Amino acid sequence: MSLVYSYIFNSLVEGLPIRIINFYGDPKFRAEIKKSDASLYRIIDEYVKTRDLVELYKEVSKIKFPIESLPPCYQESNSTRLFSEMAKLFSLKPEHLNRFNETQLDYSQITNMLNPMLARETYVLKYEIHCCMYENILKRNAISSILEIGVFLGGSTHAWRLRLPKCKLYSMDINHPHQDRFNLERCKSKFTIGSAINMKDLLKVTSDAPFDMIIDDASHLLSHQIGTFLALSIMHSWSICYVIEDLDLKEGEQQSFMNFVRLLRRFKEDKDVNAFMDSVYKFRTEETNEIFDFAVINRGELMNLAECNVSFFGDNICFEH
Ligand SMILES: C[S@@+](CC[C@H](N)C(=O)[O-])C[C@H]1O[C@@H](n2cnc3c(N)ncnc32)[C@H](O)[C@@H]1O
Repeated sequence: MSLVYSYIFNSLVEGLPIRIINFYGDPKFRAEIKKSDASLYRIIDEYVKTRDLVELYKEVSKIKFPIESLPPCYQESNSTRLFSEMAKLFSLKPEHLNRFNETQLDYSQITNMLNPMLARETYVLKYEIHCCMYENILKRNAISSILEIGVFLGGSTHAWRLRLPKCKLYSMDINHPHQDRFNLERCKSKFTIGSAINMKDLLKVTSDAPFDMIIDDASHLLSHQIGTFLALSIMHSWSICYVIEDLDLKEGEQQSFMNFVRLLRRFKEDKDVNAFMDSVYKFRTEETNEIFDFAVINRGELMNLAECNVSFFGDNICFEH
């Protein structure tokens, strides 16, 4: 019995009730909660249906967790107050979130603040190098719209909303966001479910294009990264810069990202789009056939890539017009 309480308490206190959902799929776990605490069972059951974090934390603040089932560092704490505070944090509206912007925090300060503070359903998967890159881009460009491909916990969407309060945010993921479903609404981000290597989905997500900046933080697979970049470039979907995060920069492979960059460099010199696409076509896989075929057929539209600048920030790349 105490195991159920301690599992639920830990997931709540870390701001990751999403873990409870995973376990909730197990009938034995469900029966165990029901047996231990009928009120807690009702609250969790409601949360699984609604994914409403604010209600969840408001309700669990009324539950009396047995002291012996709590981690020692929380045994002295008042879980009622703790969870009510968390409910308040989760109910912050964009205008409240934006107050942080008045102090002109940069991306790195925002991620540092966001991760421990707004609990962890919106954990930001960004490191110092990403933050430096984005600050560098923002110093040189006025960015007023962003499409981010790859949302996961929604942390980066949250960070962008804080960093650029007036920016139009668009996001896309192959999965429904693993998070409080209201996060994207709070962050005023227009979400599209779909895959970055599916042409139909790309057409859907780019209905408001061009975006000033596109960020590919999705599958991190080479063929996907290149295929999506080619397709979105052909569609003229980005106007200032296109970032691909977390590249695999291992050399020695026939098809490596560095080889793609070399081909692009040659293309910039000889402007021979046919030769460029003949070589780049080798990066396609079964999964990315459709997107590469689209690129071959429409290769004439890639001429603008011959003029773009390329910069690396660690293992991230930024293409700029
Ligand atoms: C690294 S996480 C994104 C992290 C987030 N941008 C952040 O910084 O907090 C990668 C996400 O990409 C999504 N993804 C994987 N393949 C994808 C695809 N083909 N199209 C769109 N999204 C994809 C996954 O579902 C996952 O949520």
